[in-house]
Amino acid sequence: MSILPDYLRTEVLTFDLHHRWFLILFRHLEDNVKAERWGFADWACEKVGRYLLVHNGCEEHSMQRFQYDHIAEHKKAHTFFVRRWDQISEATTQRRLDLSDVADFRQALIDHIASDDQRYSDYFERTGRLLQANNVLWRDGLALMP
Ligand SMILES: [Fe+2]
Ligand SMILES: [Fe+2]
Repeated sequence: MSILPDYLRTEVLTFDLHHRWFLILFRHLEDNVKAERWGFADWACEKVGRYLLVHNGCEEHSMQRFQYDHIAEHKKAHTFFVRRWDQISEATTQRRLDLSDVADFRQALIDHIASDDQRYSDYFERTGRLLQANNVLWRDGLALMP
């Protein structure tokens, strides 16, 4: 997947880039599990786990900074993803990963981006903060890029 489909774009470009990276890494993981290249599969798992923490932290930080009012429920969804990915990583380490779990995870994350993430994006847009959010994240988030 080279670009995000329109319905997944938040227009906060740093976040869109992170989201795109997730989709690329899921594909990388799936391809390497199918080819039984477990070293690459471990690598992809570790990167997804790390970028979940980075990405979730960036989103939560910007939601707080721009006083978005659904932070608690959004954080809850992020916590679910981190825990679920830990289980997937563990299964990969033990070489018993079921790829349908990766497909389910990807779909859940896509649903989150399409609904929950779109809500803060709409809020930033509605309150005139979209450009500021982009500026702040571009400056502060570059060091945290995948
Ligand atoms: Fe996100
Ligand atoms: Fe999110």
